Amino acid sequence: MGWRLGLLLLHVLLCLVNGVYSGRTSSYVRTEFPSTDIPLESEWFAIPNGYNAPQQVHITQGDYDGKAVIVSWVTVAEPGPNEVFYGKNGHQYDQKAQGTVTNYTFYDYKSGYIHHCLVNGLEYDTKYYYKIGSGDSAREFWFETPPAIDPDASYTFGIIGDLGQTFNSLSTLQHYEKSGGKTVLYVGDLSYADRYQHNDGVRWDSWGRLVERSTAYQPWIWSAGNHEIEYRPDLGEISTFKPYLHRYKTPYLASKSSSPMWYSARRASAHIIVLSSYSPFVKYTPQWTWLKTELKHVDREKTPWLIVLMHSPMYNSNEGHYMEGESMRAAFEKWFVKYKVDLVFAGHVHAYERSYRISNINYSITSGNRYPVPDKSAPVYITVGDGGNQEGLASRFNDPQPDYSAFREASYGHSILQLRNRTHAIYHWNRNDDGKHVPADNVVFHNQYWASNTRRRLKKNHVRLEHLEDLMSMF
Ligand SMILES: [Fe+2]
Repeated sequence: MGWRLGLLLLHVLLCLVNGVYSGRTSSYVRTEFPSTDIPLESEWFAIPNGYNAPQQVHITQGDYDGKAVIVSWVTVAEPGPNEVFYGKNGHQYDQKAQGTVTNYTFYDYKSGYIHHCLVNGLEYDTKYYYKIGSGDSAREFWFETPPAIDPDASYTFGIIGDLGQTFNSLSTLQHYEKSGGKTVLYVGDLSYADRYQHNDGVRWDSWGRLVERSTAYQPWIWSAGNHEIEYRPDLGEISTFKPYLHRYKTPYLASKSSSPMWYSARRASAHIIVLSSYSPFVKYTPQWTWLKTELKHVDREKTPWLIVLMHSPMYNSNEGHYMEGESMRAAFEKWFVKYKVDLVFAGHVHAYERSYRISNINYSITSGNRYPVPDKSAPVYITVGDGGNQEGLASRFNDPQPDYSAFREASYGHSILQLRNRTHAIYHWNRNDDGKHVPADNVVFHNQYWASNTRRRLKKNHVRLEHLEDLMSMF
């Protein structure tokens, strides 16, 4: 650690001497794998043994406060049993929850039987074991519930986006598994099945089997991307998000949302708001109305960390998808500043980028105010669309790097956010880097709500802490 601290201080000193306070574009671009999907017959997509064995198992948070999970799985030959057996001791399942089953068709594809089962009334901070399926085909997994809602509850989230099903996707998953993340905040674009002829649903199934190694054991908080829209009127498929909505449930009713596409969930010390870039969000629409109300419900005394997920980034200096998030920025940015959102995570752009705290809420088409400015009340915007899908990396950034962009790099990876207490969080972005676990962007975030409260109470201390944050934010 000593040499790292030395390097950091040297870099800070050089920046100060040169009067430089600007972002960095990493020249690192590397991947050892081609951007092609793993063949269907690969072992990574292996179908579990046994007649009608449950496959594609995944869990997500099932309520507002983290005392429930939704367990989902697919059976192929017949619906089979619908129950989840669970308990606190391995192989002793003294409790049972009853689920539902559904299926769908998409052009000439017919899905398996998709099961969803709400398991609620769980205790906090507890490991549960669960079993699904029957007889020799039954399968067993486990998950851990989060700590109770508390402003100082420590918790570690992973952030993954645009994953797909290439060997780069697998590499991202394998690296994430070593990161100690307890829950994934997923920023959209899941299987990329829509890249296949007739949006072949077989690739939804293979993706579900690929990610089961993580999704069966910890919740993934889902948000939808453009690859989930699957609007194909030429095939007679005019119901948007059809496979996604059948396969991936969200606890939207618990946050009084009218749609599974946008919702919120509280977990440990975080209040997570999920938005839909591809559902109506302008003034008076249901998503706009819901968000306006939900932001008023956020209680930073209980959940200090306010995190927003969306697919299309509001701030992006990559040539890929440039300005696509501008319409949502125009609709919501002023609220993010007003409510002091800590972090906004997005995907869509297949590269990594982190902003400084900036806003452009004074933008006006008549006044000439058109540049983002430093704003201590603004969120940090982070794009993590670098999961590894078949479309490859977005390696062309706008040049020069705009002032608001702190760090950007076009390589595959994932992020880790460690909430330590009500005031501090440690954040890393980890590039896959040929099999090694390499944190390439490291920042200490100060909570946007409690930092300012601390400022009022401890002015002297505040100066020191804020200075540290400014220094750290340069990396
Ligand atoms: Fe996308």
